[in-house]
Amino acid sequence: MPIRRLPPETVNRIAAGEVVERPASAVKELVENALDAGATSVEVQADGGGLTRILVADDGQGLSAEELPLAIERHATSKLGPDAHGDYDLLQIATLGFRGEALPSIGSVARLAISARAKGQADAYAILVEGGAVGQVTPSGFPGPHGARVEVRDLFYATPARLKFMKSERTESLAIAEELKRQAMAHEAVSFTLDIDGRRTLRLPAERKGPEGRLARLAAIMGREFQDNALAIDYEREGVKLSGFAGLPTFNRGNSAHQYLFVNGRPVRDRLLQGACAGPMPTSWPATVTRWWRSIWSWIRPRSTSMSIPPRPRSGSAIPAWCAA
Ligand SMILES: Nc1ncnc2c1ncn2[C@@H]1O[C@H](COP(=O)(O)OP(=O)(O)OP(=O)(O)O)[C@@H](O)[C@H]1O
Ligand SMILES: [Mg+2]
Repeated sequence: MPIRRLPPETVNRIAAGEVVERPASAVKELVENALDAGATSVEVQADGGGLTRILVADDGQGLSAEELPLAIERHATSKLGPDAHGDYDLLQIATLGFRGEALPSIGSVARLAISARAKGQADAYAILVEGGAVGQVTPSGFPGPHGARVEVRDLFYATPARLKFMKSERTESLAIAEELKRQAMAHEAVSFTLDIDGRRTLRLPAERKGPEGRLARLAAIMGREFQDNALAIDYEREGVKLSGFAGLPTFNRGNSAHQYLFVNGRPVRDRLLQGACAGPMPTSWPATVTRWWRSIWSWIRPRSTSMSIPPRPRSGSAIPAWCAA
């Protein structure tokens, strides 16, 4: 077969395989976009495990009529810009997204509708993408002074093979809730709601920014018991800050499911980091004790200008040396 350049729809569908594995990953991308847009409130709705419909509505800066077509164009982003020398520095990323891939990927495998009102503008607009086919920008209604509403219908209808890998609706809904909880733990000053099949399953009011609010947010998600049994951690070394809350050894959850780690506001699941948290535990402790202690070590928030974490970090990537030591 000759070497050929693939058409953009095919390129987007291939990329979609990487970016959107299941409904929860679409929710992750849309919520990250809302947070990057400076939202103070994020509402999520999911029907049929997120395969029938996902809606993420925010009150962020919104998008203008000119921005809407660009937002769904591959490798177009407002989050990376050139410095004085025209270079794009991938190590100085302060946003959750930066690839310009999420929306075109979702739009290539689903029916994607974005309606938005840009900050300071009177009119609102919408755009539709169906299985990669991009529609016109049209005037639209929009509740609220500014923000975006992104609706994804029939996820993977354009890639039926992918649908076969989906678990039950219940499992997919649980994964969506878990994803939202992780994002909510990392952004205590933002309010979040989640409706699954029309039923409100999560309501998290905005908390004050900082450790106090963070603990209140953790309590709202993990239960008051955690708040009453948590020990604050605050530590800084070599420009890297580590902060969070660990449960007292007497607070026993009996498994390691309640261990949440965040790097620069991004939830991460990384074995090396989890191992680093377990490192200080005395080896003479019974396994159960080290397990519960570890399991409720909740927050790591290194802040370092020389470190960036990719949107989907693989194990061992971008982990500072001191953490692994
Ligand atoms: N909720 C939103 N509010 C305002 N602007 C948005 C919103 N969602 C997306 N955008 C705009 O659309 C652009 C494209 O979004 P998309 O998620 O595809 O890429 P990204 O966020 O830049 O990078 P990544 O692919 O890593 O997520 C963003 O850079 C942003 O300018
Ligand atoms: Mg994004």
